[in-house]
Amino acid sequence: MKNFNMHLISPKALVRYAAVVAFGLLAVSGAQAQNQDALKLYQRGLAATCANCHGTDGQGVVGAGMPLINHLSSAELLKKMTDYKSGAVTGTIMPQLAKGYTDEQLQTIASVLGKK
Ligand code: HEC
Repeated sequence: MKNFNMHLISPKALVRYAAVVAFGLLAVSGAQAQNQDALKLYQRGLAATCANCHGTDGQGVVGAGMPLINHLSSAELLKKMTDYKSGAVTGTIMPQLAKGYTDEQLQTIASVLGKK
């Protein structure tokens, strides 16, 4: 029992272990940042599908004949889209368009384009 070693891990090994952990954390946070970028890209990509008619980021051209949607909040946008999708509100094109998105996608679009 005299030679009982208190250091279960040698200081050298500890430093190496810490370096590995630090590197691992860096790698994980890097991957998370990449996931965040990919998610943002996906969300903006979905919102961009409305740009043909309602303008980039919902900023349409005043007087061009297309309804402007940039005054609507996210909640109002989502309500309109789900009403078009369910058929509660009629229209020339929006009912068909709205049916092409899942409810989740409509939520994403509404949160991106809704007035902040
Ligand atoms: C091909 C053109 C076109 C595209 C693409 C389009 N819209 Fe529309 N949008 C219209 C038209 C036209 C109307 C008027 C209602 C109708 O006739 O369907 C309208 C109406 C709306 C309204 C109602 C505005 C109001 O004040 O009542 C909202 C909200 C809307 N669109 C959101 C969107 C969103 C969100 C997208 C993308 C997912 C989108 N639109 C894509 C043409 C388009």
